[in-house]
Amino acid sequence: MTQAVKGTRDLFGAELRWFQWIEAIAHQTMARHGYEEIRTPVLEEIEVFKRSVGESSDIINKEMYDFIDKGGRHVAMRPENTAGVVRAAIQNKFFETNDPKRLYYIGPMFRYERMQAGRYRQFWQIGAEIFGVAAPEADAENLVLLFDLLQGLGLTKLTLSINSVGTPECRPAFHKALRDFFDKSESKFCADCHRRIQENPLRVLDCKVPTCQAALEGHPLITDFLDEASVKHHARLKAILTALEIPFEDNPRLVRGLDYYTRTAFEVLSSDLGAQSALLGGGRYDGLVKQLGGPEVPGFGWAIGLDRLAILMQTIHNNAPDKKPILLIPVGESAAIRAMILAKEWRQAGVRVQLETRNAALKKALQTANRQGFQLAMILGDNEIEQGVITIKDLTQGTQETWNLDSVMYSIEKFEL
Ligand code: HAM
Repeated sequence: MTQAVKGTRDLFGAELRWFQWIEAIAHQTMARHGYEEIRTPVLEEIEVFKRSVGESSDIINKEMYDFIDKGGRHVAMRPENTAGVVRAAIQNKFFETNDPKRLYYIGPMFRYERMQAGRYRQFWQIGAEIFGVAAPEADAENLVLLFDLLQGLGLTKLTLSINSVGTPECRPAFHKALRDFFDKSESKFCADCHRRIQENPLRVLDCKVPTCQAALEGHPLITDFLDEASVKHHARLKAILTALEIPFEDNPRLVRGLDYYTRTAFEVLSSDLGAQSALLGGGRYDGLVKQLGGPEVPGFGWAIGLDRLAILMQTIHNNAPDKKPILLIPVGESAAIRAMILAKEWRQAGVRVQLETRNAALKKALQTANRQGFQLAMILGDNEIEQGVITIKDLTQGTQETWNLDSVMYSIEKFEL
């Protein structure tokens, strides 16, 4: 029997219902904040990611699903979507005016990662990006959108960890300080880190190997190398977050695994997910649009992992997000047609109803309904039709009552089905 490719999975049932519920809240929240959806292709030319996420990053080095297509083009299945959105915005001339642009996306991403709880090789992200505003007010507004979404999902026990990673101009001095530090303790680092020290010493800071993390104790901090404008930007952002009562932790050790960040970088962690699992990450990327061939347009955004969110939803909410529809069970031939007419009317009125169409005996129909987790069955037999009533069975409570067929719509609405 063939199986789904390692690291991928089929979404269905309760897990998919959580996905749909989260996505619905995301669409509503984005609309409230004036963000427009964009859907970019899964496949991009590999250069889109190499020139943005960075050649020295793990994502490009180890985790990319890339291949030469039948036309000889080197393409990659997107490992993230900020680069693709920027490519699309440039190509579709979104930056012809200097107006701010707010975009969001929901979709699958691909990274050839080591398997862990909540980590997949095909995973989903919801992301939001704001372009065209360099001021820290844009960082704050975009974070307000994020916290509106997190609150809408019922998430409160989270840690927002923020830092400033400065501009490319402050990096050479910082890189030199890091290399000097590593020179003294190089033997303590893993083979990958030796490569990173040469290519981009910043990447050593997010190495996940425990011995490397231990060897990093006392390493130089980017915050000691920031230019004055970056320091001011960070201070202003923190002041706004404080005024908006968004709690945060200033974390000078935070660097992100993607190369495009400038100034603000942040992550949100959830203790329910285990130590290594960031629920989301993001930051400012003022050089990215230019790097990908566009004009000089600043940007800021984040992406949240939908797979991890769905796991969290199951731990913090008791019930699955959606109830099953009503199951309408006709018993007998004339009842079958009458039930189809009723179902049509109810659906037109917005009631969710599924019809038992097998002409099954009542006992068998109810057994199936119980097995499939229906909460409510309505039974319409020839007897009921004669008396102008319908039987309502609450399958979770095991109770039963009879409603008048003439006023059944009123009764359904009253029960908020
Ligand atoms: P990222 O930190 O690479 O950032 O990914 C964001 C989130 O995607 C992570 O915090 C995590 O929840 C989820 N994620 C990443 N890899 C996996 C995986 N293998 N399985 C499950 N979930 C995963 C970005 O992708 C940036 N594009 C975010 C951004 C947007 N920055 C600015 N704008």
